[in-house]
Amino acid sequence: MRVLILGKNGMLGHDMEKVFVDTDVIALSFLDLDITDKEAVFEKLMTIAPDILINCTGYTDVDGAEKDEEKANEVNGYGVGVLARACREIDATLVHFSSDYVFHGDKKRGYNEDDSINPINAYGRSKALGEQLILDEMESIGADTPKEGKFFIIRTSWLYGLHGKNFVETMLELGNREEPLRVVDDQFGKPTYTLDLCEQVKWLALSHEYPSGIYHVTNEGATTWFRFAKKIFELSKVRGRVIPCTTDEFKRPARRPKFSALTNNMLPKLRPWEEALADYLRSRKT
Ligand SMILES: NC(=O)c1ccc[n+]([C@@H]2O[C@H](COP(=O)([O-])OP(=O)(O)OC[C@H]3O[C@@H](n4cnc5c(N)ncnc54)[C@H](OP(=O)(O)O)[C@@H]3O)[C@@H](O)[C@H]2O)c1
Repeated sequence: MRVLILGKNGMLGHDMEKVFVDTDVIALSFLDLDITDKEAVFEKLMTIAPDILINCTGYTDVDGAEKDEEKANEVNGYGVGVLARACREIDATLVHFSSDYVFHGDKKRGYNEDDSINPINAYGRSKALGEQLILDEMESIGADTPKEGKFFIIRTSWLYGLHGKNFVETMLELGNREEPLRVVDDQFGKPTYTLDLCEQVKWLALSHEYPSGIYHVTNEGATTWFRFAKKIFELSKVRGRVIPCTTDEFKRPARRPKFSALTNNMLPKLRPWEEALADYLRSRKT
């Protein structure tokens, strides 16, 4: 079983490689393969001939995407379409990561896998484009669709991990300052530890039990950025002081969905986010 991971230097890609270490894994960075280069993608995939391709690449600068939507679409949209086409060609399983930001955020309860998407920012639109191009590829297989999953779109949210810029690290960095931190308390989502996500993906990809489609994988429990920050300080014993503020008080170039908690109706659930966070904080010390 050969596994190819793309985006190995990213936060998720780094942990993915670690979790798949006991398989025949090959991991590539942006320098090894630019997913927007169609010819290079086909050539590389034909040569490596993976059974499973795990795409951890992405244009992930949510505010930057507002200024350069074309670039975001190139990587998160059309590049993903090329990967899907190439996977179909070589009969490989594609695992791809999408985001809670494909949703509008006006729902009061968690978003289900089959809820309509309606992104409110450029990053969300680019991720929605990537999803659509995979679904198109899936559909074009039509009646020949194998029971065993070939295309997995994994929506996840609010990621933090040991090898990338993330909210937990930002809070710990800023927590030592004198003045209190103002953190948004009216956006709801589900924080997710990259290692938990990687373990679940490995289990899903190797189980051969689930059909192609959209899956939601996050740690359990929804919270706000403010409550997330408070928990980070409580568990890490860093003496950071936080005060709640509203989205309107904290202007950013890209709008964020107010409520983007993803409900997992298909797979075994991951542990609560507080437990995962405690584990993460312990492991960053060792
Ligand atoms: N972080 C989150 O909270 C979150 C939430 C939901 C979904 N996701 C999705 O999860 C995936 C991984 O996210 P992450 O947080 O690990 O992102 P990340 O740390 O920004 O990593 C993304 C990686 O993609 C690489 N990359 C960018 N453009 C590329 C291209 N054209 N060809 C090949 N590689 C390219 C980057 O390489 P360079 O570093 O060399 O540029 C980087 O190593 C993304 O698809 C993201 O949209 C993330």
